[in-house]
Amino acid sequence: MMHYIVTFMPYFKKIVIKELKKIDENLNIITEFTPEIILIETSKTQKDFTNDLLESNPIFIKHIAPASKIIPSLKTKDEVKKLLPNIVEELVSIDKGTLFSVQTRIVVGKSFGLDYNSKDIEVILGEHFCEDEKRGEPFFSDKELLNNDDVNIISVFITPQNTYLGFSKAKENLNFHDNEARICSHKGKREVSRAENKLKEAISKFSLKLEGGKALDIGAAPGGWTKVLVDNGYFVIAVDPAELFDNVKCLKEVTHLKSKIEDLKFENEFDIIVNDMNLEPADSARVMVNLHKSLKENAKCVLTVKLPFNPEKGILEAKEVLKDYYEILNIKNLFHNRQEVTMLLKKKNV
Ligand SMILES: C[S@@+](CC[C@H](N)C(=O)[O-])C[C@H]1O[C@@H](n2cnc3c(N)ncnc32)[C@H](O)[C@@H]1O
Repeated sequence: MMHYIVTFMPYFKKIVIKELKKIDENLNIITEFTPEIILIETSKTQKDFTNDLLESNPIFIKHIAPASKIIPSLKTKDEVKKLLPNIVEELVSIDKGTLFSVQTRIVVGKSFGLDYNSKDIEVILGEHFCEDEKRGEPFFSDKELLNNDDVNIISVFITPQNTYLGFSKAKENLNFHDNEARICSHKGKREVSRAENKLKEAISKFSLKLEGGKALDIGAAPGGWTKVLVDNGYFVIAVDPAELFDNVKCLKEVTHLKSKIEDLKFENEFDIIVNDMNLEPADSARVMVNLHKSLKENAKCVLTVKLPFNPEKGILEAKEVLKDYYEILNIKNLFHNRQEVTMLLKKKNV
């Protein structure tokens, strides 16, 4: 039996279970550590499970880390130094020149007196696998790890009772890190609004190539996404009845149309349209359909679909409206999404 630590947003738990059952209808949930982290058990091999997971491209599962070895949690840093490296050695082989990264998450119980933290684990294992004769190449920098498929990931998940250890290749994981959000957002500190990190994460997650040109940002206020687009070389028409922050409004690349998108018509052909409007899924999708003619051939769009009520129904309704006009390239509940998903669309030539 193979075990995995699965993380997700608690609001979407029911759909996450459905997504997991699609990968293996016989899998079991063994433990619920927190409302957003569970331990599952499957009879599929790690190779089969990974292939089926990646093929199913789930929307709501955030991260899955293998837990092929489970040991009672070590209590002190000295014990960790003495015992953990050899235990991990049994799981992985880090040869000369192998790129590796240690990813640790500690779920601290109230009465759990640990005298080490996740950084300690990462340094202790990192140093062990870099010793002279081994000479693995550690990735301590999350930034370097971003989208580097060749890195070997040693996952360490620690609860008051047990420590779960696993090994995978970065390319076998849904995300390069179980806390991708932190990494994407701290790359550039927040400048305008919390929302700007959503677009930054979507750009990274969907490997979106931004080559500059003309962009349309609908539901733009206070201006986080507009600023991200300007930073990526775009002239932006920002549409929103609400105000943009002054530091965005004053940019020469930004034109603010203080109106509802439904009241506007465009002669322009945009290179990209982004839409973060807080509308019903089908209404927001209808706006995208009406803008179809204002997009250049094969242009991409990033759309957030708000799902405050029935998430599955909301996604289906939006897809139904979009399907004749846009190819839906990807849908993800990103780390920066709350009760919503982000879609990547490509204009269909109709
Ligand atoms: C979540 S906020 C957008 C945040 C923005 N992306 C940012 O980075 O700062 C949603 C915005 O959608 C706007 N909105 C809602 N309905 C709209 C409509 N019909 N036309 C234009 N904007 C709309 C709201 O005024 C609100 O400012």
